[in-house]
Amino acid sequence: MAVLRFLVLSLSLVLLGHSVGGDEYHQRSNIPIESHNVVYEYEGKAAYWQEQAQDTILAKLAAVDAAHTKKAKNVILFMGDGMSVHTVVATRNHLGDSAKQVYFEQFPTTGFAKTYCVDRQVADSACTSTAYLGGVKGNYGTIGVNANVPRYSCTEAFKSENQVDSIAKWAQDAGKNAGIVTTTHVTHASPSGAFAHTANRYWENDAEVAAANCNPEETIDIARQLVDWPTGKGLKVILGGGKRNFLNTTVNDEVGYPGHRTDGRNLINDWLTDKKEQNASASYVWSRKGLSLVDLDNTDYLLGLFATSHLPYDGDRVRGHSELADPSLAELTEAAIKVLQRNENGFFLFVEGARIDMAHHSNYARRSLEDTAAFADAVAKAREMTSDEDTLIVVTADHAHVMTVNGYPERAKDITGLTGSNGDDGRPYTILSYANGPGFYQSFSTAEGRNVLTTKTTDNVNFRYSASIPLSTETHGGDDAPVYATGPYSQFFSGTYEQTNIPALMARAANIGPYADVEP
Ligand SMILES: *[C@@H]1O[C@H](CO)[C@@H](O)[C@H](O)[C@H]1NC(C)=O
Ligand SMILES: *[C@@H]1O[C@H](CO)[C@@H](O)[C@H](O)[C@H]1NC(C)=O
Ligand SMILES: [Zn+2]
Repeated sequence: MAVLRFLVLSLSLVLLGHSVGGDEYHQRSNIPIESHNVVYEYEGKAAYWQEQAQDTILAKLAAVDAAHTKKAKNVILFMGDGMSVHTVVATRNHLGDSAKQVYFEQFPTTGFAKTYCVDRQVADSACTSTAYLGGVKGNYGTIGVNANVPRYSCTEAFKSENQVDSIAKWAQDAGKNAGIVTTTHVTHASPSGAFAHTANRYWENDAEVAAANCNPEETIDIARQLVDWPTGKGLKVILGGGKRNFLNTTVNDEVGYPGHRTDGRNLINDWLTDKKEQNASASYVWSRKGLSLVDLDNTDYLLGLFATSHLPYDGDRVRGHSELADPSLAELTEAAIKVLQRNENGFFLFVEGARIDMAHHSNYARRSLEDTAAFADAVAKAREMTSDEDTLIVVTADHAHVMTVNGYPERAKDITGLTGSNGDDGRPYTILSYANGPGFYQSFSTAEGRNVLTTKTTDNVNFRYSASIPLSTETHGGDDAPVYATGPYSQFFSGTYEQTNIPALMARAANIGPYADVEP
């Protein structure tokens, strides 16, 4: 079959010059429209990334015996937010020894994805979400749109020519089920890439849109897109946190937290009403206990909102079976697969270990390793429930962090502790440390230089690992993101490639979406 060419490209390198971005990561700012600092104009066109992905698929097909490879009926994308290579390496030691494998390291194929976005060398979770779910790079802070949409634009994200469809939609269009699971808000940057189109990742409810001087009736917030728009509506499984974006400020959730909406809508009820109108069996749950009571084998649609904001770090999770117990990411993944696999056409599932990233931002290195281990447990659960014969599992990260593994610690040392030797100042230092972040303030509070660290200090889970540059929240790193794959066409994922190739290769493996027919 002939290769579908999206566009003939003009590779004119229009150098517009860099402008220094003023907004720190995770810091909200409502400046009207961010300077549109796109360096290479052709990167603003979705077609550039789509054509580049087709070329990658053609090159990859050469390494696969396509005639004898069954297509992937199911595709599961696991994304450890901020799960840098260093994070995975440190997690091995946290699991007991440097020789241990984090579960997905046993997958047959490993590769690297280039994570830069159109306007930034170091990416955030919004533009990367467009890349690994939609196959197109956009601008920092934007989701589900190409780089013609500047951040904070009230209108540009709603022009269809700027919108980028996700692999969740491609799966739905092919008659498969699709679902999302996360430990952060279901409307947070990463999962939103599956269903939303927005010029600002923080427009999760109408009040946030209004605060940015956009009209919430025209600039539709992310939660509303999830409940009102076709791709979001069609998701069979939505599990995570962020309940406050579904409820009005005048309404409290089951455990007493008020909503953040101001339009009076109760999006949980609206979601249930929509499913009822379709005569579908649908369940809404808000606790681990509630989830355990759902008959998942007879559920068409499952909405679980387990926290007003994020789910806790795995180490802070309330264990047990009380009303207040928190589900683990592995339990959420298990429930999602049970519901999704009811469709004989197969499914696409996105699972995010979201808080690996948040731990790093706080320089809580130990928490990031614990959450990586919990994320790996979820991958193991998914693989146990499916078969390598028909299920492609891809594990990756959206971007890195600036944590390093340093010193020459003896093999038996716990990686969350001290190296065992001193700096030139005669003081101990930790094996894990950061290039920047709030840990600076814990490291350098004495007049004579660095604080004297002891094992007792580093044993505290709230110890912030030292950072060279003082910063209220640590930044992401620009390293490539690791990619691990198993199942049909997993050979596709070796090598170093654009992050945008990930959904294209998954779609080709599953024979869905715009890349289904790419053939040499
Ligand atoms: C929703 O919240 C807004 C802002 O607090 C309030 O003005 C409005 O009356 C509430 N709507 C409903 C239906 O309760
Ligand atoms: C749901 O069931 C009712 C009653 O049987 C029927 O009238 C209606 O058309 C059904 N709706 C859909 C979307 O199938
Ligand atoms: Zn982050």
